[in-house]
Amino acid sequence: MIMSTPTIDHADIQGIVIRSYKDLAEACYVMIDFADVKKSCKWLKSIINRITPASIKPQFALQIAFTSKGVSHFISDDQYVEPFSREFLEGMVTPERSRILGDLDTNDPVKWNWGQNNESIGGVLMFFAENVEILERNYRNIVDDFEIYNIQEVIRLNSQILPSGKEHFGFRDGVSQPLIRGLEKEEELSLQKASTLLQDKKVVMDNYINPGEFILGYENEYGQVPSYPTITNVIGDKLNIGLNGSYMVFRQMNQDVKTFWEYIYNQKQSNPSFKDKDAIYIASKLMGRWPNGNSLTDNPEEEGEVLPNDKINNFLYKSQDQFGFGCPIGSHVRKTNPRDGIDSDPDKSIQVSKRHRILRRGRTFGTPLSESLNLGKNNKEIDRGLYFICFNSNIGRQFEFIQQTWSNNGKFDDLYNDVDPITGVSFTKGKYVPCQFTIQSQPFRKSLKDIPQFVFIRGGAYFFVPGIKALEIIASIHSKY
Ligand code: HEM
Repeated sequence: MIMSTPTIDHADIQGIVIRSYKDLAEACYVMIDFADVKKSCKWLKSIINRITPASIKPQFALQIAFTSKGVSHFISDDQYVEPFSREFLEGMVTPERSRILGDLDTNDPVKWNWGQNNESIGGVLMFFAENVEILERNYRNIVDDFEIYNIQEVIRLNSQILPSGKEHFGFRDGVSQPLIRGLEKEEELSLQKASTLLQDKKVVMDNYINPGEFILGYENEYGQVPSYPTITNVIGDKLNIGLNGSYMVFRQMNQDVKTFWEYIYNQKQSNPSFKDKDAIYIASKLMGRWPNGNSLTDNPEEEGEVLPNDKINNFLYKSQDQFGFGCPIGSHVRKTNPRDGIDSDPDKSIQVSKRHRILRRGRTFGTPLSESLNLGKNNKEIDRGLYFICFNSNIGRQFEFIQQTWSNNGKFDDLYNDVDPITGVSFTKGKYVPCQFTIQSQPFRKSLKDIPQFVFIRGGAYFFVPGIKALEIIASIHSKY
């Protein structure tokens, strides 16, 4: 079906929503809180022209997002005609959310370094720069004014893209992203290439997702433009504060790299069925991709050569790897995006998968384990991991669904006790219980038992990233009264 291409208002969308800023390797996320309404409005007004829209490719980018606490600092409840979503308003830390996300026991918010409750943070400033000097100069420029405007820096989180371009377990990250319909000409072209290739193989992967899945005010994968936050001012004007905005999920995920590789090496040593395999093969089975990013569906036995993202993401599971002999059914990538493998009808599966996609913008933090071992420091002393960041227009149907229904669900496809071995968790009576991982293979499937927890949640919040015009409305709402 040929659909008309939506016009996306690049100049009104904050850049990070549709750009990864990969060339800006240095980043910091500054969690902030507001105290004085008038001063906060003045401050916001003063920085709006420094917020980078998606229409430009910058050397430095500044972005801003608010928690529901932050939004309510500027806008009062009785001003809403259409509210923000329930998940955003409630925040990441409620007993129900903790149960949904698996933030219990070992991941309990009481153990977090920040965001332990929904009252501690009002917003976040995100700085992206080519190098540390530019980053620090811009950071100082903004933060030096905080005192005048009564803004508090709650915590500064630093991040660098590792020179290897990999996450801390050693795997290439940022490979599979949805393509947004109507976004960039180049991306449309690469999709067309992908589809042609796949049609040759008699399968079609449609990775094109309607913009409304990620940006508010556009058509989503149900063919609808859902209502978005709208307010009125005293003279009754309706003001769209949701248009061109997005919801952002931010989770600090600490990675226990030492335990991960020790566990993998122990499996290699103790399980005779792995006698011909190396540790990298076993770890790749858990992830579902090789360290260089290649898919285990396309490359079941060998890692293969390093290829660009658009060359290694054109595969399907049901039609190419139905039983998981290449990419295991419970692996991280297969659980978090099962593609055509959900339902017996592959086309229907793709349609369902397309309603549970997220745009990932995560970045690593902390020095790699190998470097800190060289410095004589052991794993426990240094936090390292991923600031998992993703954008979606419906937190419940997208991010939370993936985490709860796919990653944390041991009963997935024909599996019965296999949570996502990278980010899934399982609890009995509120206590963490290790799960297992099944590697489908012939003649017998292999089973990895008592998988320890490798990833620990140590902070998080839900944010709203307004469009540029919405920022102007938010900043001036009080002066209009
Ligand atoms: C420390 C935590 C995590 C690590 C180390 C990690 C690592 C990876 C890696 C190496 C890939 C494959 C490369 C790629 O396609 O970009 C990947 C893909 C992916 N991850 Fe994660 N991830 C983490 C957390 C999460 C979380 C919390 C979610 C969602 C709830 C998630 C969702 C995804 C998705 C949707 C994909 C792409 C799957 C596809 O389309 O094929 N990840 N991750």
